[in-house]
Formats: sequence, structure tokens, C-alpha cells
Amino acid sequence: MIKLSERKILITGAHGFLGKHLVDNLINKRRVKKKNLFLPTSKELDLIKWENCLKAVKNQQIVIHLAAKVGGIGFNLRNPGSLFYNNLIMGIQLMEAARLAGVEKFVGIATVCAYPKFTPIPFKEENLWDGYPEETNAPYGLAKKMLIVQAQAYRQQYSFNAISLLPVNLYGPGDNFNPKNCHVIPALIRKIFLAKIKKQKRVTVWGDGSATREFLYVKDAAEAIVLATEKYNKPSPVNIGSGKEISIKNLVKLICQSLDFKGKVIWDKSKPNGQPKRKLDISKAQKEFGFKAKKEFKEGLKETINWYLKNINDL
Ligand SMILES: NC(=O)c1ccc[n+]([C@@H]2O[C@H](COP(=O)([O-])OP(=O)(O)OC[C@H]3O[C@@H](n4cnc5c(N)ncnc54)[C@H](OP(=O)(O)O)[C@@H]3O)[C@@H](O)[C@H]2O)c1
Repeated sequence: MIKLSERKILITGAHGFLGKHLVDNLINKRRVKKKNLFLPTSKELDLIKWENCLKAVKNQQIVIHLAAKVGGIGFNLRNPGSLFYNNLIMGIQLMEAARLAGVEKFVGIATVCAYPKFTPIPFKEENLWDGYPEETNAPYGLAKKMLIVQAQAYRQQYSFNAISLLPVNLYGPGDNFNPKNCHVIPALIRKIFLAKIKKQKRVTVWGDGSATREFLYVKDAAEAIVLATEKYNKPSPVNIGSGKEISIKNLVKLICQSLDFKGKVIWDKSKPNGQPKRKLDISKAQKEFGFKAKKEFKEGLKETINWYLKNINDL
């Protein structure tokens, strides 16, 4: 087990949604001293540039690579090229720089979007390579998937300790509610809240509501990453999820109830559903490093809605 309080740790993307919760976990639960954390923003070190990757890893012992370009279906459809290029080039360069600098361990954050479109439920890690991902998120998912190959190849050739984690869709306080690039939960909360405030009688939602998703509370995801950093040192990627599936239709119902929106939901079937079903087999994370998600979904959703109502002025 790696004692993180005794290491110098680079976290890329530390000021993003997941990054803030990860830093909070390390400082408050693991007693890591702030001075041992290196948390550059993209303005300080743009990791698209190779020289900045070299600077970022200098004198670091652990690298946790969260930096990425991410977004919901619409954002993925509008930006397939930059999502592919940015995510691939940042990861490839950072891992190579970390290897050259003699970094002890590299923790890569992949994504559920790397799984094939029609993976049998629950998704098992060994099904990852069985087919092409759902088209709307394939450039993002495949860029992240190549970093898993890089991690395995570097372990094989250079004995470099790189691991890869596959989180499902995250949600929680501090999520990104920017309509340009937010994910499904913040997008729905915002849309339904605005419909209620504007006294609209109906709200239109993308797809037909049949797709299912699994959601993981962001603080649970941060705990999983920390546990894997401390304890997991093998080449195969590991699913990080809650193991619970919910349809978009039921998710919309829950959000309407929470926000007391009584209007009609119109399903826009001309818009994509995204991947038809998503639910992970989460047994490996529990077996390998003792991770089990704690937060009950309805409670986490309520916290997320309350956070939005307190922090975001969308009116
Ligand atoms: N959110 C989810 O549902 C989800 C699900 C599965 C996996 N993941 C993975 O989890 C990680 C974190 O996601 P998140 O939701 O926290 O995303 P986020 O809030 O958008 O944060 C991403 C971070 O990446 C940084 N970044 C982007 N481009 C960069 C560049 N060129 N150079 C340096 N830093 C750059 C940004 O830094 P600045 O703020 O300084 O610009 C930002 O802080 C990502 O790797 C993502 O793929 C997320």
C-alpha cells in the first residue's frame, strides 16, 4: 500500500468537478499536506504542449491524470475532433513524460464511454475490447481507451506502474451546469428548474427516455480513485460505479418530483438516446481495493439539486 501522505502528487484537472472532490479527499481524509500536491490549472500548464507535460511531472512521485475535455451528448456531437485529439494527446504525452521522469505510479481515468455500444449488462472489464463504442461518444471513448493500451504497454516494456480506472457517469455538488457542455443530470435539473420558474406547461427532453444509465456520486468516485492509487497495481482496467441502473424516464420523473414541476414531459425522438444501456459489474473494484459506493442515488440527487439552487444563478 502506498502511503499518500508521504508522496509528492501531481493531479491534473484538479480544479474540475471530480478534481476538487479528489483534492478534498486527499487533504481531509488522507491528511496529505497541501504543499505535497501540485495542482496546475490549464492556464498555468496546458497539457496539449509537450514541454508543459515535462514541467508538470518534474519531481512528482504519483500522477493522477484527470485533465480532459468532457461533455454531454450534444457537446460530443459538436466536438468529436477536439475531444479525440485533446484527450489522446494530453494523456499520451503526460504518461510518457511521467515515465521519463521516473514517476512511481500513474493513475489514468478512462470512462464508461470506452465500452462497446451493445455490451451485455452488467459491463465486465473483459468486454471492453469486444466492439465499437456508441457513435455519439466514440471519439472521446476511444481516445481514453488508447491510454489504457499505453498503460499496459508501458507496464510490459518499462515496468512502469500505470493503472486505468473506468468510472461511470458522475454527478453531485459542484457539477458543471453550463448548458454548452454539461452532462445529463445537470442538463435535466437546469431545464426542468427553468421550465418551472417560467411556468411552462411542458418540457422537451432528448431521446425517448428508454436509455438507462448508472450514476456515481462524485465523492464516492474520489474515494475509489484514492483507494486504487493506494492499493491497485495491475494492468487490467477496473470499473468504478454504483452498480445501480436507472432509465432516463425515471430520472426525469425524480427530478420533476424534487423540483415540484407538474408540466408535461415531451420526448424528442429525433434526438439521440446515446448508449442504449449502461450498468457496470463493480465486483473487481471491491475485490482488488475494497471500493463500494456509499451514497444512495435519491439522496445524492437531492444534494445536487440543492447545490444548484444555492450556487447557480440561471435566471
Ligand atoms: N464527469 C463525469 O461524468 C465523468 C465520467 C467518467 C470519467 N470522467 C473523467 O474524469 C475526469 C474529470 O472529469 P470532470 O467531470 O471533473 O471534468 P471537468 O470538470 O471538465 O474537469 C476537467 C479538467 O481538465 C482540465 N483540462 C482540460 N484541458 C486541459 C489542458 N489542455 N491542459 C490542462 N488541463 C486541462 C480543466 O482545467 P481548467 O479548469 O484549468 O481549464 C479541468 O479542470 C476526466 O478525465 C473525465 O474523462 C468523468
